[in-house]
Amino acid sequence: MCGIVCYVGKRDAVPILLEGLYRLEYRGYDSSGIAVRNHGPIQVVRAAGKIANLQSKLDGLAPRGSTGIGHTRWATHGKPTESNAHPHSDCSGNFAVVHNGIIENYAAIRQWLQQRGHKFQSETDTEVIAHLVEENWDGELASTVRKIVPGLAGTFGVAIISSYAPNEIVLARRGSPLLLGIGNSEMFAASDVAAILRHTNQVIYLEDEDLAILHSSSYEISSLQGVPVVRDPHTVDWDIAAAEKQGFPHFMLKEIFEEPEAVINAMRGRLLEAEGTARLGGLDPVREALCATDHIIIVSCGTSYYAGLIGRYILEANTDIAVEVELASEFRYRKLNLKPGTIVLAISQSGETADTLAAVREAKHKGVPVLGLVNVVGSAIARETNAGIYNHAGPEIGVASTKAFLSQLTVLYLLSLLLGRDRTLSIDEGKRFIANLQSIPEKIGQILRINDAIRQVAEKYSVFNNFMFIGRKHNFPVALEGALKLKEISYVHAEGYAAGEMKHGPIALIDARFPTVCIAPHGSCYDKTVSNLQEIRARGGPVLAVATEGNGEMRLLADDVIYIPEIEEQFSPLLTIIPLQLLAYHIASLRGCDIDKPRNLAKSVTVE
Ligand code: AGP
Repeated sequence: MCGIVCYVGKRDAVPILLEGLYRLEYRGYDSSGIAVRNHGPIQVVRAAGKIANLQSKLDGLAPRGSTGIGHTRWATHGKPTESNAHPHSDCSGNFAVVHNGIIENYAAIRQWLQQRGHKFQSETDTEVIAHLVEENWDGELASTVRKIVPGLAGTFGVAIISSYAPNEIVLARRGSPLLLGIGNSEMFAASDVAAILRHTNQVIYLEDEDLAILHSSSYEISSLQGVPVVRDPHTVDWDIAAAEKQGFPHFMLKEIFEEPEAVINAMRGRLLEAEGTARLGGLDPVREALCATDHIIIVSCGTSYYAGLIGRYILEANTDIAVEVELASEFRYRKLNLKPGTIVLAISQSGETADTLAAVREAKHKGVPVLGLVNVVGSAIARETNAGIYNHAGPEIGVASTKAFLSQLTVLYLLSLLLGRDRTLSIDEGKRFIANLQSIPEKIGQILRINDAIRQVAEKYSVFNNFMFIGRKHNFPVALEGALKLKEISYVHAEGYAAGEMKHGPIALIDARFPTVCIAPHGSCYDKTVSNLQEIRARGGPVLAVATEGNGEMRLLADDVIYIPEIEEQFSPLLTIIPLQLLAYHIASLRGCDIDKPRNLAKSVTVE
């Protein structure tokens, strides 16, 4: 997620904007910039990398202005470079824009503007807004913004200043948060209250389709159509640390609660409902190879490896492609005989994991096409693969991966749909596939709403020091991921196993001190999984089941049950993992662990 901070008042804007950007640093960024003005032209200063790089440029240039906008960028379109950093300007330099969100139709707008003589300086979607304002300028900033907004598809939280309108900032919101801060003869705006909380705790949260005009001692809010609206100020009683987590006690819990949005963002602009398929533009360079391939090898580590294991079930269920999944740390040392037609897919949230990067390089050395499924734009794996798909989960701060995992799975479903429809899936099957995916965000929301109940279950199980997690088919890798979540944040020993393996040894571990989390949603293996569950209980092992709502039988079979909404079997991992993430979170919290920064772990393992 990018960050926005704005100021208009009697003080110098630069230090206020810079401090606000530092407050937004935790949200992740790869470049930043500010634009300020007083009576002269707008001065724009931007820098790639850390905000400290921007600060050192500002110290040298010392721009002055009491009206300004600032931005930290988390790249979605265009590499994390200074030229792609916000603010973006029009050809004349009379307008400067900062933007959060995605303008989905930016390519068509850019082409239209270029045909009308506009020259672009960046690869971003945002820059089209600055040139559209210039193209449609009618002498008044707010009315010009009202004219261009209807033509923007996608989401935006945008702030604009102009050299024609001193001491004025215009903001518009659709799908990306923006708030106003009310000061004493000064006004603030931001994407996140943490950026301005030191200056005021009186804030107004803009709603979608709101437009706001800020001056140093006044503000007006209206709809994008110009109808005045009333938005009541709120008093924020968080401290800065709480504000950065938007009131959640930990980034991990905040990110779990962002999972519906993460799934939506992974699908945004990629579903072709009428044709019952998906569009993954990042794969265009290898489209022919994808159409021809009969063998995909997925390489990744940790949680991303478990996403790959689930991806195998999904790809094989919907295509005729043989899929292997290999730990990147093993793949890179195997004597690989990669045949023509094989494609390697690297999955990595950070895009910097040393083992996965080494596997990418080894596969490229062997001459096969290598794709990346990566969250961090411009990361090493994203740069070194032949093509790829960004999962657009936004920055994931908690070391334990949660929303990025959901996002990775969503992209793997989209890839399976795209390849499946190229091969054997009918249009009706494709439409049904899409309908299932579109139902997921709300169903995740239903599970998040029983978070308190899950915490109560966690209280009961937090006393145990050993856990078994079991599942079958798509939910076997979910069992592995659930065990990893518990291990890495609560330091409790947890084994993930294919349920069918229990009788081949692991069941010897089971007794009253060794509970089992059994993932048993409705599906083709439900009855067999119930048999495993009964074998465990017969040996005195406590069982916590994850089951499909309405399955009253499970209350008789297990000691405790967490219910998930009904969903077709192959989509169930998108739901069954949620209770396991929350269970791990609450057990770790009850054990007083450092949830966001677990001992011995790093968010990105850039060493081998
Ligand atoms: C997941 O919770 C862990 N933080 C870890 O297993 C992680 O998934 C693994 O290191 C791979 O990271 P990547 O996705 O950034 O490559």
